[in-house]
Amino acid sequence: KHVVFIYKRNAPPGPWGFPIIGHLHLLGKKPHVTFKRWKDTYGNVFKIRMGSWDTVVINGKNAVKDALEGSDDTYSGRPNFYTMKVFKDVNSNENALSFGEFDSSWFVHRKLASKALRTFSNTRNNSIQELVTEEAMYMIDALLEHNGRPFFPDSEISKSVGSVIYQLCYGRGEDVRNDDLFKAFLKSNDEFIKFTGAGNPVDVMPWLRYIMPWKTQKFRQLLRKTKQFRDINVQKHIHDFVSDRLRDITDAFLAEDLTDKDGKSKKGNISRNRLISTLDDLVGAGFSTISTTLQWAILFLASNPDAQNRVQAEVDAVVGNGRNVKLSDRCKMPLTEATILEIMRLSSIVPLALPHYTTKDTILNGYTIKKDTVVFVNLHSLAYDTDTWKDPDVFRPERFLGEDGYLDKEKTNSFLPFGLGRRRCLGEYLARTELLIFFATLIQRCDFIRPDGETYTMDGVLGLTYNPKPYKVLVVERT
Ligand code: HEM
Repeated sequence: KHVVFIYKRNAPPGPWGFPIIGHLHLLGKKPHVTFKRWKDTYGNVFKIRMGSWDTVVINGKNAVKDALEGSDDTYSGRPNFYTMKVFKDVNSNENALSFGEFDSSWFVHRKLASKALRTFSNTRNNSIQELVTEEAMYMIDALLEHNGRPFFPDSEISKSVGSVIYQLCYGRGEDVRNDDLFKAFLKSNDEFIKFTGAGNPVDVMPWLRYIMPWKTQKFRQLLRKTKQFRDINVQKHIHDFVSDRLRDITDAFLAEDLTDKDGKSKKGNISRNRLISTLDDLVGAGFSTISTTLQWAILFLASNPDAQNRVQAEVDAVVGNGRNVKLSDRCKMPLTEATILEIMRLSSIVPLALPHYTTKDTILNGYTIKKDTVVFVNLHSLAYDTDTWKDPDVFRPERFLGEDGYLDKEKTNSFLPFGLGRRRCLGEYLARTELLIFFATLIQRCDFIRPDGETYTMDGVLGLTYNPKPYKVLVVERT
């Protein structure tokens, strides 16, 4: 089905590629930047071939909104890449949430996952605010332990961010940081991120698994390890589960009685095992995204001391130094919000969203796109659009503020860091909560300074997310 790319009338234009590999060799280390360049030649919608998969790339706000905002789910599928087959294999043939096939059971899966996440990350009981504040304080203590000497801040950031998602999924604890399971969790995540990098070539050229079998074997091993880790935690939960006292997302999943007494699913063919596997989706998607954004945040602050002073002045005026930042401060701190948005725009950490897949033939920008086409949504092209931002490479948080000093809605809607439509980020609410509390608490308590002689680059490296290159920073307590 995916073998040869035959020229079809009215198909989108695109560059010439080679047989077998298609355009893979032309993509470079930052495909999102290459795609943005090709857009200038071929327009907002163009076709390429990723190994054996017919692929369309969509750029620019209008085309992306036209594609993803409609309710007919034409673009709501995910390609059945080889690594997803491995995931299913390791997980008793169950579909994953993030990369799972799009069918009626997926709706049930997403709804239940969303309900569980909302229960434990809503702000009504203040518990998420307390958890993130507590972790921000741990992070600050760890950063200040370097006593004014330059250091790489990534592991301190990861520990606190990891602890938030870990506690949401597996339970709050007094001493989670010293828990062996938590340490194993951090280690296995780190291994996973390092191995998966920007993707597995076997996904687009499945025959490579015969030539490079280690590429899938190692992946399978890592998935098995993740599942074992999850199983240990889930077993502990089953042991002391009380249905009217749900402690965390695992409990919330266990509480969904998904099967009737004959073992058949009551809620649209979704098993408890499948729901439990969502813990991997939440950890996978909710850990490195936040930690990478905070790494970029510190890099931008240390590179732009004036902007750092301005945003600190706002936090000082609204929060002061006698109490912790609260979510209700958000509406009084537009510059803080704008600074976070500017960091998210420039870092564009998920530049091509997750791959989409067409569920039927369709037309976009006048071109025919066939069913079963992989679709890359180039979110980076929105974040760096010259018409919208004029000077897209410049760090200027104030660009998000209107003349009245408040957030300019048109500007904030001009880039889509969380995607759009049915497959948009499930954790957007939690992400925005975490970013506000972590960021505002960090700048309330610390100054971030570029060490003398250290040169910074805003050029990143594409892995699971788009990461800053390792950098050292000086952190000094604010008096
Ligand atoms: C998917 C961005 C944090 C859970 C996505 C997508 C993007 C994204 C661009 C793909 C949308 C698409 O395919 O069109 C981000 C950013 C984050 C963040 C920029 C933080 C700065 C989180 C957090 C969680 C989360 C904290 C949960 C704990 C998910 C899930 C999906 C997803 C489950 C898959 C949704 C699906 O396929 O239905 N995210 N995300 N994300 N995100 Fe996030």
